[in-house]
Amino acid sequence: MSKHSSKVIVTGGAGYIGSHTVVELVNAGYEPIIVDNFVNAEKSAIQGIETILERKVTVYEGDCADHDFMKGVIAQESDIVGLIHFAAYKAVGESVKKPLKYYRNNTDSLLTLLELMVEHNIHHIVFSSSCTVYGQPDKLPVTEESPKKPAESPYGNTKQICEEILEDCVNSEMPVNVVALRYFNPIGAHVSAQIGELPLGVPNNLVPFVTQTAAGIREKLTVFGNDYNTHDGTCLRDYIHVVDLAKAHVSALNYLGKKSEASTYNVFNIGTGTGSTVLDVINTFEDVNDIKLNYTIGPRRAGDVEKVYANVDYANTELNWKAELSLADALKDAWRWQLSLKKD
Ligand code: WQD
Repeated sequence: MSKHSSKVIVTGGAGYIGSHTVVELVNAGYEPIIVDNFVNAEKSAIQGIETILERKVTVYEGDCADHDFMKGVIAQESDIVGLIHFAAYKAVGESVKKPLKYYRNNTDSLLTLLELMVEHNIHHIVFSSSCTVYGQPDKLPVTEESPKKPAESPYGNTKQICEEILEDCVNSEMPVNVVALRYFNPIGAHVSAQIGELPLGVPNNLVPFVTQTAAGIREKLTVFGNDYNTHDGTCLRDYIHVVDLAKAHVSALNYLGKKSEASTYNVFNIGTGTGSTVLDVINTFEDVNDIKLNYTIGPRRAGDVEKVYANVDYANTELNWKAELSLADALKDAWRWQLSLKKD
């Protein structure tokens, strides 16, 4: 079957990583079918995608955990070769305050999709997982064999539970081929500034807080601790450009398309393989955008791991995928995106 007729359902396709992946799917010759309830995404993301692609994209507004709604989507579309499942709540802090909301939504949606895959002979699923499953690794960089640690939050626990659900389904010989992508820290935006990260409310994550501080929306950035065991005392992460991350999903679909066995489960670390500290991010942001950032050093943030970055050899060889964009590229693109928001 030619890729051009290969439709891929993208749940959460209007979200930050979802929207960038929809663009790369079309660029690669797939036909994305966006499913989003817009609880954590804006309709403007669809316009941004269509501006970049210079064509319309198919969107179904609804909850992917709703069996009848999803059954309707599948009935409406033909030639569905797979799913990419992004739709989930992902605010670590909120998950501690509202665990039920997270366990219900993040597991229900996956269970519904798996049931429908069996009912409708859809065999490929790419699942959005997270490096949070590793907690504070004993050894760095982390490989896919590094032990998972008890989750630090209900959000992180839902990622671990969903990975276990997928693995158990494959071990039961359910006819599904699964790729779970463990994301490190996604940052940046499409170079066109038509799509990017739309944090609702006060950002939890570092880079949106940096760009909002630079834009004068936030008075100052607080660096959460500088007494860690790193080259400058601030926490170390593996920041990956969201476009590179999006391309990893296309590579995962291509990889699944070549699978001959009926039931397989593969996990991949999706990062750059390089660690950067909070101060590395701040200094790089200031350099590439020629901006002075107003920040202070504050106390550590509870739950933060000190250092985590990926060994990406497995994705490089098996998926034939490698991050190509740099921290500087991502921080330039993030700032351009922030400036585009100020104009709205
Ligand atoms: C990065 C570093 C902070 C804000 C989380 C989730 C993970 C994934 C990505 C969903 C840390 C420091 C931050 C600030 C700061 N989310 N920081 N001042 O915590 O690594 O990962 O987001 O999939 O699952 O756990 O990312 O961007 O919040 O923090 O100093 O105002 O920046 O302490 O060291 P994190 P982050």
